[in-house]
Amino acid sequence: MDSIVVTGGAELSGEIPIAGAKNTCLKLMCAALLSEEPLTLTNVPRLSDVETLTTLLESLGTEVASVQGGNSLMLSAADITNMTAHYDIVRKLRASFNVLGPMMGRCGEAIVSLPGGCAIGARKVDLHLTSLEAMGAKIDLEEGYVHASAPTGLKGTEIEFPFVSVGATENTLCAAVLAKGTTVLKNVAREPDTVALAHCLIAMGADIEGAGTSEMVIRGVDALHGTTHRVISDRIELGTYMIAPAIAGGSVELIGGTRDLVAALADKLEEAGVEITETDKGLKVNRANGRVKSVDVTTAPFPGFPTDLQAQMMALMCTADGVANLEETIFENRFMHAPELIRMGADIDVHGGTAKVTGVEQLRGAPVMATDLRASVSLILAGLAAEGETVVSRVYHLDRGYERLEAKLQGVGAKVERVAA
Ligand code: UD1
Repeated sequence: MDSIVVTGGAELSGEIPIAGAKNTCLKLMCAALLSEEPLTLTNVPRLSDVETLTTLLESLGTEVASVQGGNSLMLSAADITNMTAHYDIVRKLRASFNVLGPMMGRCGEAIVSLPGGCAIGARKVDLHLTSLEAMGAKIDLEEGYVHASAPTGLKGTEIEFPFVSVGATENTLCAAVLAKGTTVLKNVAREPDTVALAHCLIAMGADIEGAGTSEMVIRGVDALHGTTHRVISDRIELGTYMIAPAIAGGSVELIGGTRDLVAALADKLEEAGVEITETDKGLKVNRANGRVKSVDVTTAPFPGFPTDLQAQMMALMCTADGVANLEETIFENRFMHAPELIRMGADIDVHGGTAKVTGVEQLRGAPVMATDLRASVSLILAGLAAEGETVVSRVYHLDRGYERLEAKLQGVGAKVERVAA
């Protein structure tokens, strides 16, 4: 298995291009199942998660053609020939559970494997299922699979989510666009990924009001048509690379980044003493000299501080001047990176959902192990600031969500190398 070796101490300078958003792209790919006509996506990130979902969609009968060297995908679901999303794929990629809503909308039938456990928490899918039931679907769980059916089609209704779920909002939205009548969804996710999905569905002929607010009204239509849609910039990749110069020192321009995608992070970085400027091409992040100041962070649904940037922010706080309390409110077990950071000399005390991070003057390189996608990149970031070499193993986690990570960091002067085992 490959490792990534980071030699700390280099100041960063230059530009990093931000790729299309993984989480947006995956949901848009699932939405292709809603139409007989092709959906073309541009600005598609080259990630193993995209390849995994491609395999799943192909197994359902979708033709997926890669154009422009993989930067665009044309997905054509003229016929859905197989109703089963198999465990082998769904367990590798939880987002593949989001074929359920589109298949129910289009076919009124789907058999989708339950995703199973996950390193960061239980990650239940009960809200996905109860909302489909509220729309008239019959749901049975058999041998680890969800068997969903609505032989006479789904019916619009009012659904209030008890808490915000990105995946459940998106699955229900996709089911509702082809349901009979009007669906009102309350307490929905306002994540840019969810809004982008709604905009793509509207371009395909769906009737959706309220995307980006906490209530969406969806009037069912008979069919959706094809369209071409550009995937928005990846706000988590953007946020990760904003933290890179903050932790390593230097100045980096993030091409294609916009402040609205990462406002909660940008505010916190400024509070910590990092300079952020909007430019014609993106966002410039500069940490001129000295350590950043500690800042407290609580994760929350958008527009709050993203849970997907908590690990990276923790790495930064490990080197900050002062004490930071990081509170994780979205996932119950998302501090797996803390013991690894402690191996690098960090001072972190985890109590329940809060990590108290007392900044140290210098982290030291160490062999560390990646546990999930965002945890692994936090170790790379910590390595940029550490004295000596940090060797991050299990980097397949990184390849799921960061396109050309080493090349992008090398491009701004970081000493980062992939070593084949
Ligand atoms: C999505 C993102 C993920 C991000 C998360 C929160 C994708 C592919 N993934 O994940 O990167 O960290 O949003 O911003 O878009 N829950 C339930 N029952 C449900 C659904 C969710 O209890 O039916 C819980 C989850 O266990 C979690 C919380 O609700 O504790 C939020 O999860 P959710 O917003 O659904 O996250 P995902 O869509 O899985």
